[in-house]
Amino acid sequence: MAISFTVNGSQRDVAGDPDKPLLWVLREDLAMPGTKFGCGVGLCGACTVHLDGAPIRSCQTTLRDVAGARITTIEAVAQTPVGKRITQSWIALDVPQCGYCQAGQIMSATALLTQTPKPTDDDIDAAMAGNLCRCSTYLRIRAAIKAAAG
Ligand code: FES
Repeated sequence: MAISFTVNGSQRDVAGDPDKPLLWVLREDLAMPGTKFGCGVGLCGACTVHLDGAPIRSCQTTLRDVAGARITTIEAVAQTPVGKRITQSWIALDVPQCGYCQAGQIMSATALLTQTPKPTDDDIDAAMAGNLCRCSTYLRIRAAIKAAAG
């Protein structure tokens, strides 16, 4: 039996193993490769998406877990006012280096700024601590979040 949920505003019905990680449902079943596989064990944040507005690790979330939920991915995050400001700020400050982790970084940053419009450095560090960057773009990430906060 298919499991139904919305992705970026569209209802999707996905049949298959209910224990399949959402990360692979998005990438394989729904052909949305923007969400990245990093560690696969919930430690790096590369696979971050929003579930009902909250950042989650899609490698640690099953298809069963998202039944009836509202998922937002990097493909549509810029459609919200906050996501658009974050994305524009990322571009203006030239945040990415290799870029691999940046979808997850942007998803976490957008969730932070939606919840906390004027975050302190401590707020930013706490919210972004689970998103690792091998190129160490952390200072530009923090600057871009502050610039987007205005
Ligand atoms: Fe999910 Fe690393 S791939 S946290």
